[in-house]
Amino acid sequence: MDSSGEEFAANREAMLDKLAQLESEHAKAIAGGGEKYVERHRKRGKLLARERIELLLDEDSPFLELSPLAAWGTDYQVGGSVVTGVGTVEGVECLIVANDPTVKGGSTNPAGLKKGLRAAEIAAENRLPTINLVESGGADLPTQKEIFIPGGRTFRNLTNSSAARIPTVALVFGSSTAGGAYLPGMSDYVVMVAERAKVFLGGPPLVKMATGEESDDESLGGAEMHARTSGLADYLAADEQDAIRLGRSIVKRLNWHKLGPSPKPDYDEPMYDAEDLLGIVPGDLRVPFDPREVIARIVDGSDFDEFKPLYGTSLVTGWANLHGYPVGILANAQGILFSEESQKATQFIQLANQNDTPLIFLHNTTGYMVGKEYEQAGIIKHGAMMINAVSNSRVPHLSVLMGASYGAGHYGMCGRAYGPRFLYAWPSAKSAVMGPQQLAGVLSIVARASAEARGQVYDEDGDKAMRAMVEQQIEAESLPMFLSGMLYDDGIIDPRDTRTVLGLSLSAIHNGPIKGAEGYGVFRM
Ligand code: COA
Repeated sequence: MDSSGEEFAANREAMLDKLAQLESEHAKAIAGGGEKYVERHRKRGKLLARERIELLLDEDSPFLELSPLAAWGTDYQVGGSVVTGVGTVEGVECLIVANDPTVKGGSTNPAGLKKGLRAAEIAAENRLPTINLVESGGADLPTQKEIFIPGGRTFRNLTNSSAARIPTVALVFGSSTAGGAYLPGMSDYVVMVAERAKVFLGGPPLVKMATGEESDDESLGGAEMHARTSGLADYLAADEQDAIRLGRSIVKRLNWHKLGPSPKPDYDEPMYDAEDLLGIVPGDLRVPFDPREVIARIVDGSDFDEFKPLYGTSLVTGWANLHGYPVGILANAQGILFSEESQKATQFIQLANQNDTPLIFLHNTTGYMVGKEYEQAGIIKHGAMMINAVSNSRVPHLSVLMGASYGAGHYGMCGRAYGPRFLYAWPSAKSAVMGPQQLAGVLSIVARASAEARGQVYDEDGDKAMRAMVEQQIEAESLPMFLSGMLYDDGIIDPRDTRTVLGLSLSAIHNGPIKGAEGYGVFRM
């Protein structure tokens, strides 16, 4: 790759521009409920959600924040009133969920609920202990219809985790009302901060309404009461820092062992500069790029053993190590998946399952090839073969959307619905059922045929306007911030961070065993 050329410079410029936009959206999540509520929170002598997380984690250890742009493009605060991510506490990788009390009292809105459920899924699939940092007004009452019924799963997940012998810890810093009371209620270990934690099924006004009984916060749900009388609190913390200290000492005593194989202790960094990753993806995704340039910048020693390099060349497959973990990589090269690529992918996925090797999917695909020749050669059954292999593969999958991720190609490359353990997008990514022009064109052809069938004259001006509108809509809906807002990825990452993010993800994944599939569905030959 020529990193001194004009093309590279233009790609880099475009990527930096997108990263700047991304940063300003991330800043919204970090700002929480805004200055007024942050100020009020601090005046109460309380720590912010991210400060609590930072104190909880091992000093200078990384925090892999998940879904920071949840709720983007909706009426809710970007971030969804909760912070989630994977971090290390006393050497143990934990899934951390922290309510942000500066956003509507930390109450859970539909976006926050989706984000919390995704975090719980990550904890369950990767066998990560969960630590909940609780301070929440419970359900966001005006949106209760969207959260009350599905939200019940939050509590079910906690107790399922416990049954799977994956510990759960709740550190309660403030209000934890109604449904929220089941966060500590369902956790293995509970710490409450004296005079701050308030845990009740119903607060004093609700009790008054329900039974006529007069009560006060402390006797109804105070930390002291729960530690001494109800027994819901296992530990009474003097203040927030003390609660964090107790949380860390609980994790220290978990006697936690990872079940996956350890990475190689000594590995080389890539030979090529990660900075170059900014200039690889063209602004126009129709222009192909060589994914080997990406692979060379993310794997150990830039050492990649390509499998079947001469066959199905629009898909690159091969073996490498990443931060000492062995991985198989599938990366789109020319965008389109043909029958050969599908068969090659199927074989490669089976091989990775034979030797228990996690798979990384690097997306830049416009989907499977269409057209008479390809249909007659069996593109459906070959694509189905690849999708069968991806669906029934049991080794962990990681997906990175670098460029296009369209149509069934998104499925075959282990898109969101195919259960990758983690899925990240670069700012350059685009994902939809098909490209905006193609989709608008299909609609136009169908509408024209329908008008003709009715014997009507087709409105050409109306068609032009419709196409422009649809193209604009599909383009906006294909962009990573929009998709991230809908929780269709686990975060948009700076391409330069890809190796680090994948390394952290692989390390988290190895908390559980790594075991390939022993059977698949029927492969249609
Ligand atoms: N649903 C929707 N909005 C809520 C909310 C909830 N459950 N809880 C708090 N909010 C909103 C408040 O209306 C307020 O909004 P505003 O500033 O735009 O007017 C903002 O969040 C901050 O709330 P406030 O009461 O000023 O904060 P606080 O820190 O003094 O108290 C709580 C926080 C959570 C103790 C208190 O708001 C409360 O008791 N909420 C209701 C709890 C409840 O009964 N939940 C039942 C859920 S099933």
